[in-house]
Amino acid sequence: MNEIKIVNLPKISDPRGNLTFIQAPDHIPFQIKRAFWMYDVPGGEIRGGHAYKSQHEVIIALSGSFDVIITDRNNNRQIFHLNRSYFGLYMPPDTWRHMENFSTNSISLHLSSEIYSEDDYIRDFNEYKSVK
Ligand code: TYD
Repeated sequence: MNEIKIVNLPKISDPRGNLTFIQAPDHIPFQIKRAFWMYDVPGGEIRGGHAYKSQHEVIIALSGSFDVIITDRNNNRQIFHLNRSYFGLYMPPDTWRHMENFSTNSISLHLSSEIYSEDDYIRDFNEYKSVK
């Protein structure tokens, strides 16, 4: 279960408006301790560019679209284009990621297994490559 993957979330279709939810452990292998979101991202900007040592995270495009790019230690890249609010991208700890190609008015929701800690970040890709 602890692999990078797209999680297909329930979509309760309703003429009054659709509803999606996420809960552990049904959809993600961690308990959610923190939520944050990115919005008003100017066109062309890049966010992220780091790995977490111990945090699990799922990212959902609540509105609009953007790309999450995962880079492994051999510089192989996987690109996930998120554009539906019923898909989540699950990432285990030790995943190098950045986000780009944000559409106008996009909102990325991030659900994390840990509260914020700068000590949990690896922000230098060469350092990331050198550990493990
Ligand atoms: P950061 O995760 O570094 O974003 P990015 O990798 O896209 O630049 O977060 C930016 C700043 O926001 C960082 O300096 C610390 C602060 N921050 C918090 O205080 N709490 C949080 O939960 C998050 C995600 C960030």
